[in-house]
Amino acid sequence: MKDILFYQLFEEQSSTYTYLIADLQTKEAAIIDPVWETAERDLKLIRELGLRLMYILETHIHADHITGASELRKNTMAKTAASALSEVDCADILLEDGQVISLGEKEIKAISTPGHTNACMSFIFEGMVFTGDSLLIRGTGRTDFQGGSSSKLYESITQKLFSLPDETQVYPAHDYHGLSNTTIALEKKLNPRVGANRSAQDFKKIMDELQLATPKKMHIALPANLGCGKLEIVKTMNPQIILGIPTVSNEDVFQKIGRVKIIDVRSFEEFSGELGHIKTAQLVTMGSELTKFLENGDRFEEIVFICRSGKRSSQATEESIRLGYKFTSSMAGGMVNWNEKYLPKE
Ligand SMILES: [Fe+2]
Repeated sequence: MKDILFYQLFEEQSSTYTYLIADLQTKEAAIIDPVWETAERDLKLIRELGLRLMYILETHIHADHITGASELRKNTMAKTAASALSEVDCADILLEDGQVISLGEKEIKAISTPGHTNACMSFIFEGMVFTGDSLLIRGTGRTDFQGGSSSKLYESITQKLFSLPDETQVYPAHDYHGLSNTTIALEKKLNPRVGANRSAQDFKKIMDELQLATPKKMHIALPANLGCGKLEIVKTMNPQIILGIPTVSNEDVFQKIGRVKIIDVRSFEEFSGELGHIKTAQLVTMGSELTKFLENGDRFEEIVFICRSGKRSSQATEESIRLGYKFTSSMAGGMVNWNEKYLPKE
């Protein structure tokens, strides 16, 4: 490892590992699976190390976090690369199985390892393999959405990854137990799902019996990642920008009841008074209560703010945007308009 640079970076919210690798001779670098929230940190590190970022590589289209690809690409000369099967039109390079990318004097080899999704890639570099969500430390990625398949994943792991030299260091996209890496030999022996020569049938049974919740940000992460991490692409509510504030109509909110978080910022008296409130609406009164709510919330959650006439909800939306929220909007005309249109209330 004398003539390369290697950094394993971590993003806490999604427990994602991002990897920065470089050829020391030429200072050419590649980043694997960057995350939107930590793109600034990565850029700073790249600058501090004097590296030239050449490639932003995605092991797959992530469902649990938004890629940092777009942020990194804006600020560097790097090209984005993902599997040709991932249908990401905005990637600069569409990778085929076995494709080799040169990084200065070194090479990165992309191998197709489908199963967690139909378009997963692993990257081999200098005795290491970056396996994304295909092979994890004593685990594997799930196979229940995005074209996942337990038989394909079994084959990818046992035929392709397990045929790499035993001492190959394995670096996955996630770890939820505080471990950082493993080796092919260790996983062949110890992986509870595919190790110790477990059969494809065993593996299928294990995978079928997993009862996993859908990733929280999936409805936002998938469209954003299919657009290389450009957040403008995610338009679930289609807000109009009025005086700089994203605004949605009463009808739009009515259509989205149950699918977005509705926050009513009025007082308790107003909330339970004659104008009523919208089904599923949560009362978070403007002021310290709202501030506290916003400080602790998920910046990627889709939220509509509601008030009596639309004024306080605009202020709440403005405040949320200032705090880094990406998908918040204000309902135009508030509950007054809602009542004028005879929309259902509680
Ligand atoms: Fe994944």
